[in-house]
Amino acid sequence: MTQHNEIVLDRSDYSASLNSAADSLRADAEKALKRLLNKDCPGSEFTGWIDWPKNHGIKLANEIITWRDQLKVSYDCVVVIGIGGSYLGTRAVVDLLTPEFLDSGDSQKTSNQKIKKVLFAGHNMSETSLSDLLGYLEHRKPMICVVSKSGTTTEPGVAFRVLNEWCRKKFGHVESTQRIVAITDPKQGALRKFANDQSYKAFDIPSDVGGRYSVFTAVGLVPIALAGFNIHDFVSAADEVFANALGRTKGPHLNFILEYAQCRQAAWRAGKIIEVVTYPEPRMRNLVEWFKQLFGESDGKNNKGLFPGSLECTMDLHSMGQYLQEGSRTMIETFMTARNPRRKDQRIAVPKTGSNIDELLYLEGKGIDDINAIAVKATKKAHSEGGVPALEISLPDLEITTIARLFAALQISCPVGGLMMGINPFDQPGVEAYKKNMFAMLGKPAK
Ligand code: PA5
Repeated sequence: MTQHNEIVLDRSDYSASLNSAADSLRADAEKALKRLLNKDCPGSEFTGWIDWPKNHGIKLANEIITWRDQLKVSYDCVVVIGIGGSYLGTRAVVDLLTPEFLDSGDSQKTSNQKIKKVLFAGHNMSETSLSDLLGYLEHRKPMICVVSKSGTTTEPGVAFRVLNEWCRKKFGHVESTQRIVAITDPKQGALRKFANDQSYKAFDIPSDVGGRYSVFTAVGLVPIALAGFNIHDFVSAADEVFANALGRTKGPHLNFILEYAQCRQAAWRAGKIIEVVTYPEPRMRNLVEWFKQLFGESDGKNNKGLFPGSLECTMDLHSMGQYLQEGSRTMIETFMTARNPRRKDQRIAVPKTGSNIDELLYLEGKGIDDINAIAVKATKKAHSEGGVPALEISLPDLEITTIARLFAALQISCPVGGLMMGINPFDQPGVEAYKKNMFAMLGKPAK
């Protein structure tokens, strides 16, 4: 029987051959997990995230909440500056939990919390985007949270220089020391030096945790707490998954971790090169972006790995759906769904008018989400019958605890698969190539 908090991997529309190949990889997956947890693997110097919630996260969450509650300034929105692993986890959580059309800097009251609008910068090099952000901030009082482990990444570096100048001009130095918080390497990098120099509050990103594995460190916890969400629940839920994986407790998460790695590996070994993640809620878009970074940056090296793509259901069925149905058969599709996708207070049904002038009489009284669930089911059937083997990651809901469990489970499953494929899942040497060209073209002086 499915437990209430269980993340279920449904393999009923995966092909018989991939299912049987996946089953035969169990021992390999267990071996890879053991190597990972024993830190006996390539990239082991970046495995500090394993069991992080229990070892540090719960204590850190308490420290962050105390700091936030003692801030000497009030704020009406939060700007998070960062790129890649330095912002995607936060963005995934914020998008899932914030009402989609919350558009002012004012907080929105729900039953037990005040949610602040969160804006993101430093993940592109767009002058228009930055200028629009400054326009938005003109009459607002933000907290500015700059996140960079290296402290030298160009995109967030430039955005922070602009926003830091703006903040100093608008609020002065003393107030800026309350409004700006840096999250960076404990000792090195330009951002650490700058934060120390300006007396800005700074939290550490541990040296042994890479960006895409860092959401349970201050990288995720500080901005998520500033946004008004319960980071204590967030880290505690992640701890349940680590406890299962490490054998401290028994529960459903270990099996999910291994099976998903086995299924992906079976696909890769059978010649598939793309995994399309299909999701039915617009607010899941950045959850899937987080997924794409985790798997894309971890797996994609030595000419190996499934390319992670995405499809928003039903929007993309009217564009990319054609390709899934009839394009090259190089893909698997992983549906990521929630058994209860609604926030507690929501329910909209197709209005009962008794008229069929819009030819929708047959839908009268049906919940919109129920129609959406049928759309997903119909899509899965069509695509799998069209030759794209389908998996489904079924989440209980889209609450903060479920997101945390999913993050933790995928953070473990991803390197298990990477180790089975013989790569180092914790580095990203390929990211340097574009930087090298850009620095040369911009005339960056050599150190
Ligand atoms: O996963 C990673 O390590 C990367 O995606 C980094 O998070 C990203 O490049 C940002 O780096 P930094 O935090 O050093 O600015």
